[in-house]
Amino acid sequence: MKYNEIRKTFLDFFESKGHKIVPSASLIPNDPTLLFTVAGMVPWKGILQGTEPAFAPRVADVQKCIRAGGKHNDLDEVGYDGRHHTFFEMVGNWSFGDYFKEGAIEYSWELLTKVLGLDPAKLRVTTHETDEESTAIWKKVAGKDAIRLGDKDNWWSAGDTGPCGPCTEIFYDFGADIENEDDRWVEIWNDVFMQYDRDANGNLTPLPKKNVDTGGGLERWAAIMQGKVDNYDTDLFVGLMKSIEDVVGVQKNAENTPSFKVIADHLRAVGFAIADGVIPSNTDRGYVIRRILRRAMRHGQMLGHKGALLSKLYPALITEMGAAYPELAREESRVVEIIQNEENAFADMLQNGMKLLENEIPKVNNNVLPGEVAFKLFDTYGFPLDLTQMILRDKNIDVDVAGFEKSMAEQKERSRANTKGTRTLWESQTQLSDTDDTKKYMPENEMESKVLSILRNGEFVQSANAGDEVEVALDKTNFYGTQGGQVGDSGEIKKDDNTVMNVSEAARVNNVVIHKGVLTDSLNVGDTVKTIINQSARQQTARAHTATHLLQAALRHVLNEDVEQRGSKVSPDSVRFDFSFGRAMTPEEKQATEDLINQWINADMPVKHEEMSLDEAKSKGAMALFGEKYGDTVKVITAGDVSCELCGGTHIYHTGEIIRAKINKEKSISSGIRRITMSVGTLAE
Ligand code: SER
Repeated sequence: MKYNEIRKTFLDFFESKGHKIVPSASLIPNDPTLLFTVAGMVPWKGILQGTEPAFAPRVADVQKCIRAGGKHNDLDEVGYDGRHHTFFEMVGNWSFGDYFKEGAIEYSWELLTKVLGLDPAKLRVTTHETDEESTAIWKKVAGKDAIRLGDKDNWWSAGDTGPCGPCTEIFYDFGADIENEDDRWVEIWNDVFMQYDRDANGNLTPLPKKNVDTGGGLERWAAIMQGKVDNYDTDLFVGLMKSIEDVVGVQKNAENTPSFKVIADHLRAVGFAIADGVIPSNTDRGYVIRRILRRAMRHGQMLGHKGALLSKLYPALITEMGAAYPELAREESRVVEIIQNEENAFADMLQNGMKLLENEIPKVNNNVLPGEVAFKLFDTYGFPLDLTQMILRDKNIDVDVAGFEKSMAEQKERSRANTKGTRTLWESQTQLSDTDDTKKYMPENEMESKVLSILRNGEFVQSANAGDEVEVALDKTNFYGTQGGQVGDSGEIKKDDNTVMNVSEAARVNNVVIHKGVLTDSLNVGDTVKTIINQSARQQTARAHTATHLLQAALRHVLNEDVEQRGSKVSPDSVRFDFSFGRAMTPEEKQATEDLINQWINADMPVKHEEMSLDEAKSKGAMALFGEKYGDTVKVITAGDVSCELCGGTHIYHTGEIIRAKINKEKSISSGIRRITMSVGTLAE
């Protein structure tokens, strides 16, 4: 019986027993105590607790679950046996104050032995040591003597607090020839009798109603129904394995099977989570998904595969599971793009980090990798700690986790000290402020210059190496340093055509532009380098900046002439603009403002960039910013006949380059001050 048939058989059975059949809820729970939906009961927590009304007394479904990170975590086991998954499907039936122990046990037994036809002799049951009632029911219904176990095995809760209760579990015997007891006797269904609510102090209060929460792992059911011992040998996974073989160009064999299992499992977790709206990131559930994705890439690498992997496999996931979960196909282009971006960002780091790790392995003493090395892999190459641990596990090498955490704490301390301290450090570099060229903004995309100073970990150094986080001042630069609300340029610094530094942001201390970023090769004071800005980011920032001027002009048209800028942040394709105004804008005013800006964009008016004396600018009626200091010569940006402002930022030359503007939000940030966020360019489109 294939997955699609088992799901249907399960749901049809409970429908025939008066249950309402509902689709799976999202993997992102509406519950701050959990990272993911870890069990079928998660969406029903409020009903079980009695804070939400039950929409039906009996319910059944097949729920998408992820157990990775947090209390329920199977991540480290995946690949090493045949029955662990980070993502899995849980079949479940619920009674919200309707049937209780007898009904639940009878339904489970009937479905397993009568409908699915499992041999009763192959089933064993456990009950909680205090639960005489369930023990007696098992004897009556199935003639089984339940094994009595304690809280560790037969008490269930989703988190540390919330609904919980004693449970009875059903185990399947995969055969006497399997030596390991845990592999031989596998739990296939858990009936929980949700009777209590546990508070933060561990106190149990009886719930308003006695409920039933059952859960069975569909993958294990499929293994049994298909005569397999290993879940990964069932039809759905056989399909995925075939696609993995096609994408990596390697056949699955006894030796590389763990990598195939990890990739198949992680494809499901990453694909389903992103389809449900998780975005890979450095925190919370986003970080769990990023870690899982990176582990999958490592296993791809072990199979000799380079670069994008899960993004190429996602269509196979749709083939196998798209019929049961239509969201997979509906979200395809978005999910593939997000996975691709993640994979592109990590591909080189994985290669380079592995080189570093391979150099370090021979130096390992007592089978423990020093914490600083694991930290360097984390910090410079994006290796999550668990990825490093996973790589070393096969070699029987542990990581000094305390040392890793110490390095992490030290780095946090350093960067705290740095953000406070570097400004003063740079201010004390007096020779820099004498260098006139460092003060000017150069429009070139690329130019040659000389390294004047390198700051690393709060100290000026003569040279620094790959992996170092540094700040660099040059004798001249084309990078725009953050100023006047406009974020600085990003880009790269090259030496003899090799990239030596990725500049994440150019900042500014007084008039000196400081290039911040991470070195990818060594850099010395006095080196001749080429500075190359990220042109598309600059163009996106320039069009956002001109759009900011149009926004101010439009607000003065639509609201009134007194509207004044109070602050702004201009980034690639996005604008945050604060202005003085006493009330919320109406939807009509917002629309009129947006329409006016787009009308000016469509008119493709010329944007003039001029330098003139401050007096001249004033007589032209150029708007200046409150409280800004301006020199004798100022830059004036004029867009058609609608806007004329003093401005030192970067701008485009025709309003049509903005493409489009879209106002996203308008809100109050303090009394009399409103904030608009606006997208432009392709982002707005
Ligand atoms: N919530 C229980 C479990 O996950 C039964 O569904 O095992």
